[in-house]
Parts: sequence; C-alpha cells; structure tokens
Amino acid sequence: MHPALGLVAAYLLGSVPAAYLAGRARGVDLRAHGSGNLGATNALRVLGWRIGVPVFLFDALKGFMPAFWFPTWFAAPGHWAMAYGLAAIVGHVKPVFLLGRGGGGGKGVATAAGVFLGLAPLATAVAILAFAVVVAASGFVSLGSITAAFALVLALAATVGVRAPVFALGLAVAVFVVWSHRANIGRLRRGEEHSFRRRREASA
Ligand code: G3P
Repeated sequence: MHPALGLVAAYLLGSVPAAYLAGRARGVDLRAHGSGNLGATNALRVLGWRIGVPVFLFDALKGFMPAFWFPTWFAAPGHWAMAYGLAAIVGHVKPVFLLGRGGGGGKGVATAAGVFLGLAPLATAVAILAFAVVVAASGFVSLGSITAAFALVLALAATVGVRAPVFALGLAVAVFVVWSHRANIGRLRRGEEHSFRRRREASA
C-alpha cells in the first residue's frame, strides 16, 4: 500500500462527525444549539455527559489512530505520522461528509489531543493537565482549550526541543486552535461564554 493512501484514510476518519451523528440520532442538529460547534463540548452542553464523553473519546481516537498506528498499517516511514495526524485534524474541522449538508465541523481540540498523545505523550499529558486545571477552576472549556494549546507548545519545547518537526506541528496546531476559538474569546471578553461551573452552581 502506498503511504499516501493513509492520508486519505486519515482525512476520511477525521471527517466522521461524531457530535453531528450523536445529535441527529436524538433528533437534534447541534449546529443550531449551544455554541453551534460540532465537538464534544457542545455535545456535552446540549445532550449531557452520556453523549459528550463518548463523542470526546471517539474524536480523540480519530487523531490517535492515524498518528500512532497508520505508519505501521500503511508501511510508511515514521515521520508520516505527523502528516496522518494533521489530515485527521483537517477532517474533523472540515468533514467531507458534511459538505453539501450545511457544513460545520469541530475546533480540532479533541482530535489534536489524540494526535499529540500518539506523537509526544509527555508534552500532551502536560497540556491535558493544564486543560483540566483551567476548566475545573473557571468552568470554561474554551479557556481550557486555549490554555492547553499554549501549554502544549511550551511542553514540546521543553521535551522534544524547538528544532523537532513535531514542535513545528504543535505550534501550527496551537495557532489554529486559538484562531478557531475566536468567537469563544469574544464571548469570554464580554462575559457571555457558557460556563459549566455556573450551570452546576445554579442548579445546586
Ligand atoms: O474544544 C472546543 C471547546 O474548546 C469549545 O467548545 O462548544 O464551547 O465552542 P464550544
């Protein structure tokens, strides 16, 4: 098999819109609810944790599989892992299966987490920890995602070094993740961002 076939496979796998499908199965188009994003956070927000958690795990696996296993499966040199991971993230953000169905996609966080867990587990563990601390403290998943993007870059610099190709990929993905959260940043600045903490406190 030619290694390039793995790129197509990774893009198609990344394109499987788990949040969209889970919503549709319950008669809800997540693009019209909550933040409108087709990601695990919006699935959690609108449909609850029984849907949100599996969507997160599936979206993360969409990134982990290409980055970790595809080089073996497609008999490709190890450095193809980064290209496979990137293709999966692109699929998640711009799913081919939703073209002509109104479009939409995710912001890339869960899939990127899976990709970097496969490529640089130590740095990713640091980023996940930063994410967890910020979300627990603030209730804002978006703020956690943005913090995790910065943490990943710093942790990659500290572990693999700034000359490593995976650092360049991490930097590019981090910049993209911050950009994909521009609407969230606006809501955070205006005090209008949805907080999971506020909802918990309100219902207490
Ligand atoms: O990973 C996406 C998350 O950081 C924000 O999701 O739905 O609040 O825009 P959402």
